[in-house]
Amino acid sequence: MIRTIPIFNLKKSSIYRPRPSLLRNFAYYLIFKVKSFKTHTMELLDHIKNRARKLQNRIVLAEGTELRTLRAAEIVLKEKLAKIILLGNPQVIAELTRKEGIDISGAEIIDPLTDAKRQHYAEIMVEIRKSKGLTIEDALKSLNNPLVFGPIMIKAGDADGEIAGAINATGDVLRPALQYVKTLPGVSVVSGVFIMILKNKAIGDNGILIFADCAVMPDPDEKQLAEIAITTAKTAKTIANIEPRIAMLSFSTKGSAKHALVDKVVNATRIAHEMAPELMIDGEMQLDAALNEEVGQLKSPGSLVAGKANVLVFPGLEAANIGYKLVQRLAGAEAIGPILQGMAAPINDLSRGCSVSDIVNMAAITATQAG
Ligand code: ACO
Repeated sequence: MIRTIPIFNLKKSSIYRPRPSLLRNFAYYLIFKVKSFKTHTMELLDHIKNRARKLQNRIVLAEGTELRTLRAAEIVLKEKLAKIILLGNPQVIAELTRKEGIDISGAEIIDPLTDAKRQHYAEIMVEIRKSKGLTIEDALKSLNNPLVFGPIMIKAGDADGEIAGAINATGDVLRPALQYVKTLPGVSVVSGVFIMILKNKAIGDNGILIFADCAVMPDPDEKQLAEIAITTAKTAKTIANIEPRIAMLSFSTKGSAKHALVDKVVNATRIAHEMAPELMIDGEMQLDAALNEEVGQLKSPGSLVAGKANVLVFPGLEAANIGYKLVQRLAGAEAIGPILQGMAAPINDLSRGCSVSDIVNMAAITATQAG
């Protein structure tokens, strides 16, 4: 049976008179704990959306004839989060939006099959990949694919970022992006992070943790892992608005186990220190040592990261991808991402199970990343 507490008239009640401290705690629970999980996610997304609004970047939605994408485009335009470029057949888009009552006035619609810039774009593609034997004919054929057309628009300076993946596999979205947009100067590896928002605010940065790389590099070597850590630190600052304390995760803490896989993380930590001495990075470290203060100080005494980590760099894609889904499914955490990082311009991959609001949020994140 559920016992209700008579919130009003408490003082007069002769049956139940909770102590003031109990009442305060209950009110605190109602006001802060129940609300805070959603509020924190909303706050972070609001922060991202406000930045996107100021930037007004041009975001390509490559799957322009997909219904969730069109609904998201309507919201992005209404909330003025970005300028929208939809790729697809204009007649199909017009028919769909009319039938579904979606207002995308203000969006630019480009048909990759007939666009006047196809020849120009094909020349850009050949310039980038002539050493791989790409011909103009092949380039023109590739441009029929919106997943190629989008990245080339960015390369040509006609757009600032792209999102796709609501109806396409990760690899198909990523490959043209990696081939033509490539990486930022000084970065060799594109990787993907999730911002995890936990119910337990004692963990990470008030419940926020960043997990990397959950999306791209199946088996990074030690140099690539070091780079992933450094790129993730930047994402933590610019997108999640937190000061990164980075744990390089392993099944060993400070030499407790000996294995080539442990050596990889030890070396990656050393390389990351050399590459970015200003960052707070420590490892190799087990997950409990990274997140729990007592365990952290026991296993890695004096560490500035152990027990206080807010960025978790996993040793490989298997652990990271499984890890974020475990936290999402078992701990009920909110998972925002994957946010791709390290690319010369932001291109983000959606999950095929994404909702309209996932697409809107990702459009705002992509617009923010475009700077
Ligand atoms: N960073 C930068 N460049 C890269 C990267 C990277 N991480 N990976 C590949 N490249 C470059 C290659 O150097 C190559 O460039 P080049 O053609 O100019 O020489 C180009 O991209 C293509 O690389 P390939 O190795 O030929 O392409 P591949 O078919 O291996 O595709 C891909 C690369 C798509 C990233 C692949 O590694 C992959 O599928 N990764 C896993 C993606 C995935 O399934 N993630 C899990 C799902 S997402 C989720 O659950 C959140």
